[in-house]
Amino acid sequence: MSKRVAVLISGGGSNMVALANSMTGDHPARPVLVVSNDPKSAGLDKARDLGIAASAIDHRPFGRDREGFEAALHARLLEAGPDVLCLAGFMRILSSGFVEQWRGRMLNIHPSLLPKYKGLDTHRRAIENGDKQAGCSVHEVTADLDGGPVLGQARVPVLPDDTPETLAARVLVQEHRLYPAVLRRFVSGDRRRIDLV
Ligand code: GRF
Repeated sequence: MSKRVAVLISGGGSNMVALANSMTGDHPARPVLVVSNDPKSAGLDKARDLGIAASAIDHRPFGRDREGFEAALHARLLEAGPDVLCLAGFMRILSSGFVEQWRGRMLNIHPSLLPKYKGLDTHRRAIENGDKQAGCSVHEVTADLDGGPVLGQARVPVLPDDTPETLAARVLVQEHRLYPAVLRRFVSGDRRRIDLV
């Protein structure tokens, strides 16, 4: 019986596509749902084109009612019954209450070499700090924002003429390699760390 994977997105969904395309053949998991907090996410159509159930729960009508949004999200997820949640370009901060309900079953990809550069603007910060390397991390999601156990990392060089955009594009290629590799181990109960070269 395949493990069931739900992917949460907010935008283009390129990581979701990479994850979905990896879950074929003898892979122990299959994608069962894609949810976005933005009805206009381009990733929703990409999911549908891949034959994956996809829907939006617009966070805006909930205003400051984070709990209300998360309750609607949780209910939608329970309909699909995922074993694992993958946050992939999901830009809403999840409360500790929501995280607790999925603890041990939720991954995120973050575009930095954690624990460096938690939060936003990771590539600009790495460039401004004169870092020679940057990259991405896949970690288990806990109540500590971008702070859960790191299960994998991939590194890229920072080039002298890099802008945040050129660095982001170089890192994104590695994200699409790293996330599927970590997910495949994770759904098999293997938490050995992966460091892609
Ligand atoms: C990626 O850089 C990811 O690391 C960050 O959001 C960006 C866009 O991701 N969290 P995607 O193309 O929507 O998967």
